Amino acid sequence: MSDRLIKERIGAVLFSEQAIRERTHELGMRIAQDYGPGGLARDTQGRPPLLVCVLHGALVFMADLVRQIPTEIEYDFICVSSYGNGTSPGEVSLIKDLERPIKGRDVLIVEDIIDTGNTISYLRRGFAAHDPASIRICTLIDKVARREVQVEVNYAGFLLEEDAFIVGYGMDYGELYRNLPYIGLLKPKYIR
Ligand code: PRP
Repeated sequence: MSDRLIKERIGAVLFSEQAIRERTHELGMRIAQDYGPGGLARDTQGRPPLLVCVLHGALVFMADLVRQIPTEIEYDFICVSSYGNGTSPGEVSLIKDLERPIKGRDVLIVEDIIDTGNTISYLRRGFAAHDPASIRICTLIDKVARREVQVEVNYAGFLLEEDAFIVGYGMDYGELYRNLPYIGLLKPKYIR
């Protein structure tokens, strides 16, 4: 699909490249400060926080976020699927697990979007069973309109109060649009 065709499908840009960059920088600085000396870190071995990227959507945000954190961190990846793969709504399935143990670690889950809250509460529950020192949650978009499960979001880039179908910056529709550098509204006529 050509650049012109993709742009034709985006009704409006909700969060521009610049807005995302600025907000990501602010989040990175806050995370560095929060996990720094006298902060929120609870790992008794003093290991850096472990950022967990939830594939595939959070990949783009994660890549930019980690480069805005000026202190030591480690990262790992997990892949889950919440819908679109034949499972019923609200059901989450694990596609790829973490590669390193989280026992005693300060875990920071990084999401592109929290929508119903089912995915993040599934992950939080699963991680809690492995006895980490702490679990916190960071999401670029906190979409509250369709929340089904209450979750405590510790770092939110942007609050989205409307039930809008957004794509770009990692978020897809039918696996497309993830590579847009901004977050836009997909025109309803292109949603089947
Ligand atoms: C998206 C997003 C979150 C989840 C949020 O992932 O990346 O993980 O949905 O929705 P929820 O709060 O309603 O559970 P998706 O399953 O679409 O896969 P993807 O990350 O590969 O795009």
